Amino acid sequence: MKGIYIHIPFCDYKCNYCDFSTMTKQYKRIDEYFNLLKKEIIMYQNLTEKIDTIYIGGGTPNLVDSKYIEEVYKFLNESFNLQLKEFTIECNPEFVTKEKIESYKNIGINRISLGVQTFNEKYNDFLGRGHKISDVLNSFEIISNYIDNISIDLIFGFPKQTLESIDNDLKYINKLNPNHISWYNMILEPGTKFYKEFEEKNRNEDLEYEMYLKICNSLQNYNHYEISNFAKDTYESKHNKIYWRDEEYYGLGLSSSGYINQKRYTNEFYFPNYKKKILKNEKPVNFFEKIDLEKRKFEFIITNMRLKQGLDLREYKEKFSVDLYMNNKKMIDDWINRGLLNHENGYITFTDRGFFVSNSFFIDILI
Ligand SMILES: C[S@@+](CC[C@H](N)C(=O)[O-])C[C@H]1O[C@@H](n2cnc3c(N)ncnc32)[C@H](O)[C@@H]1O
Ligand code: SF4
Repeated sequence: MKGIYIHIPFCDYKCNYCDFSTMTKQYKRIDEYFNLLKKEIIMYQNLTEKIDTIYIGGGTPNLVDSKYIEEVYKFLNESFNLQLKEFTIECNPEFVTKEKIESYKNIGINRISLGVQTFNEKYNDFLGRGHKISDVLNSFEIISNYIDNISIDLIFGFPKQTLESIDNDLKYINKLNPNHISWYNMILEPGTKFYKEFEEKNRNEDLEYEMYLKICNSLQNYNHYEISNFAKDTYESKHNKIYWRDEEYYGLGLSSSGYINQKRYTNEFYFPNYKKKILKNEKPVNFFEKIDLEKRKFEFIITNMRLKQGLDLREYKEKFSVDLYMNNKKMIDDWINRGLLNHENGYITFTDRGFFVSNSFFIDILI
């Protein structure tokens, strides 16, 4: 499988926890940005390999007029060999309209990721979001008339959040019954308003762990296929699995990353630099990173262990000629004895408790 990620950086506001590359209220730049993006797409033309997934993320892709998204698709279709199995766009609830969703459906978009974060209005204000619960309910209904593959994006573990608010989120989830849920543990990202206001060391990890267990235990009618992702039937995200399975993807637009021929590249973060390079007819890449053998091994462990099916020890041995279990037997057995890891049928997999503290496992395996 191969994918394309496209970044649309425009937002109407800056959320207090978000460190993604965004341009707030810079509506005058929309036309200019899309002209540059189209030029960037043309730089990739004549590639013959088939592309299975497109993910349009942001920023707030549904803030801009749908004609821009249609044009991006037209340019992609002319430059790449698209044989799409999944085509996703991220949407903020308050900017969803029937016309936009119709237009998305017409160009083949078959998956919407709806940024809800929490179903508590007071908390949504605190997070700096611009929508009300009524926007979520209305947008979900509009989208459902056209597209059944809707993912609801939520966050847990943000400052001041209570365990009871997770019950409230679960109540709405039960009511809407989406086919996919991404429920992320909030990261306090340096440079954000929350990072300045709240200290990482003051986090209540026990409470966050309780929240995570409540979420995992309550979503029993979903397949918990990745640390933070839950899907019904066939609705696992094909595009995200490209990242988690160490497969290749192109990244286009401001700040996007791609991974091609075992090299990762990241585009310029700063709009004037992005623009300058494209106007010189250069790919707007800021830096390349060669993924050497040690990095590949480590990334293979992280990406596979994030998935519920876990890490196939035989596959690891075939790929890297190393017996991961025997080389780390004492440490892995210790994780198993603490109820954080399972070792069955040649796979090592996290338990729900293990998932929550997975970062420590990755540090242990590095040492
Ligand atoms: C960057 S947003 C872009 C899409 C859309 N603008 C939105 O706000 O939903 C994509 C998702 O990333 C997640 N996210 C952003 N910042 C995060 C953070 N600091 N910690 C955890 N998840 C985060 C949110 O769940 C969000 O829905
Ligand atoms: S979370 Fe979404 S809406 Fe908020 S600033 Fe980030 S990209 Fe924009």
